[in-house]
Amino acid sequence: MTATPARGVADAVPGRTRRLPPGPRLPAVVQTAMWAVAPVWFGKTCLRRYGPLFTARILGFGDVVYISTPDGIRRILRDDAGDFDAAAANESIRFVVGEHSLLMSGGAQHTERRKVLMRPLHGDNVTAYVEVMKSIVEQEVVGWRPGSAVRLLDCFQRVTLEVMIRAVFGITDSARLTRLRVLVPKLLDVNPLIILVPAVRRSFGGFGPWAAFQRLLREVDQIIFAEIRERRAELAADPSGRGSDVLSLLLAKGQDNPAVTDQELRDHMVTLLAVGQETTATQLAWFFERVVRAPGALERVETAVRDEDWKVLDAAIHEAIRSRPTTLDIGRMATKEWTADGYVFPAGTMFAVSLGLLHLSGRLHPAPESYSIDRFHPVEPPSAHFLPFGGGSHRCLGASLAMIEMRTVISTILRSVRLRVPRSTPEGVKPKGPMLVPRRGAQVIVTENRLFAGRG
Ligand code: HEM
Repeated sequence: MTATPARGVADAVPGRTRRLPPGPRLPAVVQTAMWAVAPVWFGKTCLRRYGPLFTARILGFGDVVYISTPDGIRRILRDDAGDFDAAAANESIRFVVGEHSLLMSGGAQHTERRKVLMRPLHGDNVTAYVEVMKSIVEQEVVGWRPGSAVRLLDCFQRVTLEVMIRAVFGITDSARLTRLRVLVPKLLDVNPLIILVPAVRRSFGGFGPWAAFQRLLREVDQIIFAEIRERRAELAADPSGRGSDVLSLLLAKGQDNPAVTDQELRDHMVTLLAVGQETTATQLAWFFERVVRAPGALERVETAVRDEDWKVLDAAIHEAIRSRPTTLDIGRMATKEWTADGYVFPAGTMFAVSLGLLHLSGRLHPAPESYSIDRFHPVEPPSAHFLPFGGGSHRCLGASLAMIEMRTVISTILRSVRLRVPRSTPEGVKPKGPMLVPRRGAQVIVTENRLFAGRG
C-alpha cells in the first residue's frame, strides 16, 4: 500500500489541518475487498504503515477514520462522548434490531432504555443462570465421543443460543424453542449485502435476499410477540409467579411502567440476540483455539478450574479476547467538529474506534501475537490499554453475563473432558458477517470424556 496525501481542505488555522489522516491510496473498491476478506491483516498493515490514526475508504461508509490510541479512544468513548453518535454508526442494522434498540438510541433516551435493561443483566440476576448454563453445556458435551474431532464453534453457537432463549428469555414452550433454534442462526447469518447496500433492500416480487430475510424476521417476531403476550397474561393472573429471567423482570417492571411496550420488549430481545449470542460463542471458540496451542496454557487453565482460581481463568479469557477479538472496531459518527492529533474532523466524520488494534498494538502489548496468561496475571495491564467490553455510556451491558457464561462453559467442559490440539498450526481468522471466527471452527480432539463414558 502507498500512503495517500491527506484528503480534504487545508485549514487556515496554523498547526491544525482539516485534512483526514493518511491511509491507503488504493481505489475504494480494492480497500473494501481487503477489509471484507482479511480485516485483521488490513487493519494491522495500515496500523504499521500509517500509525494508530489512519483513513480507509470503505464502500457504503465512505472515508472511515481508524483510531486506536488509548487517549483517542478514551476521548471518543468517554470524555467527548457527547460529540459522537453511536446510533448513526449502527444505522445499517436498524431494520433488524428496531428503533427502540439501545443500539439505535442516544442521549437521555439511551440512558432511560439502558436503565430498564441494566437490572436484569446484573448481579444476582445473572448468577441465577449458572445452573441452567451448566446443564446446557453438559447436554452438548455428552455427545462428544472420545477420539473424535469436535468443531467447538458449532457447539458454542448452540450453547449460547440455548442460554439466551431458555435462561435469558425464559422461553419453555417446546414448539417455540424448536423453531427459534432453526430461525435465529439464519437471522444472524444475514447476507452482508443487505447490511452494506441499502439498494438491495427491495422485494423483487417476493423473491431475493431481502424478501427471504423479511419472512424470517416476521416469523421470529411472531414467536417473540406471542411469548410476550402469554407472559404478560400469566403475570397479570399471578403477579407472584414471575420467573427470574430477563423478560420476566422486564415485564414485571412494565406493569408499573406502561412505557415498556411489546414492541420495545421485542426490540430489546432481538438486540440481545444480535449482540450477545454470537460474540460469546465466537470468543469461547477462540479461547480454546488459543489455549490448546500455547505451551502449558491448557494445563494451567485446568488447574485453575480444579482449584476454582477464577483470577487465573479470567486472565486466560481476557488474553483470548485481546489476542483474538471477535470484532475489531465499534463505530461512532462525529456530531460536531472534533480535534485530535492536529487534525480537525468535521461533523459527520465516521470513526472506527478500534479496540481490536488497541489490543494488538505491539507498543502497548509486547509480542502481541503470542498468547500469554501472564499478561493479565497477577498484574493486569492499565485499563486504558485493554477494553474488552468497550467503555463509556455504551459499554457492553452483557459484560457480567458474558464473563459468567464463559467461566461456566469453560469450567464445565474442562471438568468433564480432556482435549488435545489436532494440529499445532493456528487457525486463521475468517470473517463471518460481523464476526471474526476461527477458520476451522476451533477444532479439538476429545481424548477422554467422563460424561460420554457415564452415559455409555
Ligand atoms: C464475549 C462476549 C462479548 C463481547 C466481547 C462484547 C463486547 C461489546 C462491546 C465492545 C460493546 C460496546 C459497543 C459500543 O460501544 O458501541 C458491547 C455493547 C453491548 N453488548 Fe456486548 N459483548 C459481549 C457479550 C454480550 C452479551 C452476552 C450481551 C447480552 C446478553 C451483550 C449485550 C450488549 C449490549 C446490549 C450492548 C449495547 C450497549 C449500549 O449501546 O448501551 N453483550 N458489547
